[in-house]
Amino acid sequence: MIDQYASVRFNEKVAQETFLMGLESQEIANKAEPGHFVMIRVSEGTDPLLRRPFSICSVEGENLFLILYRIVGQGTLIMSKAGKGERLSVLGPLGRGFEMPQSEEVPILVAGGVGIAPIIFLAQRLGSHKALLMAGFRTSDEIVDKKVCGLLDYQISIATDDGTAGHLGFVTDLLEDHVDSNKKETPSVFACGPTPMLKKVAALTQSRGIPCQVSLESLMACGVGACQGCAVQAASAEKQAYFHVCEDGPVFYSKSIAWECLA
Ligand SMILES: Cc1cc2nc3c(=O)[nH]c(=O)nc-3n(C[C@H](O)[C@H](O)[C@H](O)COP(=O)(O)OP(=O)(O)OC[C@H]3O[C@@H](n4cnc5c(N)ncnc54)[C@H](O)[C@@H]3O)c2cc1C
Ligand code: FES
Repeated sequence: MIDQYASVRFNEKVAQETFLMGLESQEIANKAEPGHFVMIRVSEGTDPLLRRPFSICSVEGENLFLILYRIVGQGTLIMSKAGKGERLSVLGPLGRGFEMPQSEEVPILVAGGVGIAPIIFLAQRLGSHKALLMAGFRTSDEIVDKKVCGLLDYQISIATDDGTAGHLGFVTDLLEDHVDSNKKETPSVFACGPTPMLKKVAALTQSRGIPCQVSLESLMACGVGACQGCAVQAASAEKQAYFHVCEDGPVFYSKSIAWECLA
């Protein structure tokens, strides 16, 4: 784990309330794998005191890693104002990332909102000849352009809650449609997004016997297993009662999680 100051190379608005930030760190860029995250101190003062967790959404060249984030509160609002050259204290890369699919599997990547961040990195790593990508947003203004994501080669299937782009409805409709109309495929699902979406993805894949990995979000204070703040209940078949999202995850096989206990 690396704990260092990283310089902001760019920090641009790329969709409604959504920013893409490039941070310079050769060490983090070299070690990052899809599903890893970083903890960022957004201010040198004590407010907010705690670092904030963000998935690494891409690595460019030898020494740049990218994060895609949505403004939801004080910390992300402060981050959105960081200019080129500003130095932020970053801890990472942290956590356990995605396991790569077996060679016979068709990876289906499913993203909800800014949950597309770790999915972008995974999609880049897998390549469009192999993987399918589906993304849901509340409305078209929140869609992050595939050029910005470094995913120009992909045909991304889009769903929006209000029907302003792509399918009117949820991204889980697209997933259900695809797996039910391509029964000869051997799919493997990779998902990140809001908890209700992940619950639906977990139920849909488990009922069809499809392996599924999810990247979970939880409130995090330390990011390194020291505070117990990120505990989620494990499924009854697991050896342990709880997982720490920061250390055991954030990526889990969906069958390992007690979804009924997640709010
Ligand atoms: C492993 C991991 C990876 C993440 N990756 C990304 C990412 O790539 N891009 C991104 O935009 N966000 C990501 N998040 C969520 C991000 O950490 C929070 O949005 C951020 O910490 C909010 O900080 P804030 O100070 O702006 O908001 P706060 O003022 O702390 O909170 C504002 C609101 O957001 C809720 N909130 C805060 N943190 C979380 C959280 N972790 N999960 C769910 N709700 C939360 C609060 O309950 C509150 O309602 C990730 C979280 C985790 C755990
Ligand atoms: S965030 Fe502290 S134990 Fe996971």
